Amino acid sequence: MEHAQSGALFARNRRLIPGGVVSLNRLVDPEIAFVRGRGARVWDADGNEYLDYHAGFAPYVLGHNHPEVQEAVIRSIEEGWTLMGSGTTPWEGRAAELLCESVPSLDRVQLTTTGSEATYHALRLSRAYTGRDHIVVMQGGYNGWHDEVACNVMTPLEKLGPASKGGENPFVPLSAGMPSDVAARVHVVEFNDPEAVERCFRKYEVACLVAEPILQNIGVVKPRAGYLEWLRDLCDRHGVVLVLDEVKTGFRHALGGYQSLAGVRPDLSTFGKAIANGYPLGAIGGKAEIMDLFNHPEPGRRVLIAGTFNGHPTPVAAAIATMEILKRDRDIVYPQLEALGARMQQGLESLFDRHGVTATVVRQGSAFCVYFMDHAPRNWRDLASNHDMARDLRYRKALIARGVYHFPLPTKQGSLSTAHTEADVDATLDATEAVLLDGI
Ligand SMILES: Cc1ncc(COP(=O)(O)O)c(C=O)c1O
Repeated sequence: MEHAQSGALFARNRRLIPGGVVSLNRLVDPEIAFVRGRGARVWDADGNEYLDYHAGFAPYVLGHNHPEVQEAVIRSIEEGWTLMGSGTTPWEGRAAELLCESVPSLDRVQLTTTGSEATYHALRLSRAYTGRDHIVVMQGGYNGWHDEVACNVMTPLEKLGPASKGGENPFVPLSAGMPSDVAARVHVVEFNDPEAVERCFRKYEVACLVAEPILQNIGVVKPRAGYLEWLRDLCDRHGVVLVLDEVKTGFRHALGGYQSLAGVRPDLSTFGKAIANGYPLGAIGGKAEIMDLFNHPEPGRRVLIAGTFNGHPTPVAAAIATMEILKRDRDIVYPQLEALGARMQQGLESLFDRHGVTATVVRQGSAFCVYFMDHAPRNWRDLASNHDMARDLRYRKALIARGVYHFPLPTKQGSLSTAHTEADVDATLDATEAVLLDGI
């Protein structure tokens, strides 16, 4: 596959943009510059076509440039929806209604532009509500780029050290430039280990526990039966705000979020990604008594939410259209995503089996990940100790060379959309078989 034009574009953009990319997470090898996408496919600057499973880090639950979403955006501009920056708008009200109708735990919502802003506000609200400073986060979870949550995702085991007695991992920042005192109030525990959470709750004045209900930034690491319920109960007993970060899971797995499948009601939830099928929109919502701090009558107790572009009509139009489609077609969309996911999983499992490759495919609906290990990982420590990362990377690169785009970084989830067809899944399985025959 030729990548000369991609290379030229990277070289040109590197002159002005550090690294040539506007989000460091996008800097991977092979360096491919994409220029177009439709449905389940994307094309690069050299005209190569790929079946896309990266989905822009997962927002595209309906596929790239979905016609109805696109039409809603164009119509909103033609009708004069524009950024008012004063007072309220009908469209933000409609988006709020759709969110609250879809997710039963949301009494109130606020709109942001990104998922990171939503999780930022979750921390601030929880601190204002509890009067406490400490937070607990999950090793292997990603909750955004801001200080305090920008830590401990794919942390090398040598940095974590041996499993400590308290079950708490050292804070390992994802970035230089963070204030040094952050680590003292952020406590990182392994997923699926409720005892570690409880020890933190006993030891520190914890405002909130922030958790992705499924760790989907290290593939698909699922909660053990009863784990999320246990977290709910622990938070209740210790007066800690339970924040479920559904930026990746919300609207992709169910209209009501993964929380509706798990039967757990968080105090606060954050959303983004699939909510607007590729347009930049985040949301935070939850219990009225916490969310109403955004409008507390006493200025000293009021939590600030501000942002020139909050509720910008273009992403809001996309979110309204996306949520209306998901609501209208919920009995078609989610079964379709489940059926495609099951076809992919079964196909991959039988290929790995036939070719004698030790692998476990973990999946939730349309999100799937192949781990080159003999069991589904329980948490990051288990994953990092057993998964063959080098093989994972070779596997991804070999698929890309055959026109199947999985993000070339070990453990990143594959995302199906309603634009994928059974024929696309079968073509992916054929490409996978060719890769296995070549050897990885
Ligand atoms: C679970 C989760 N939370 C928060 C974020 C941050 O969202 P954004 O990149 O829109 O700021 C992400 C992004 O990948 C995420 O996966």
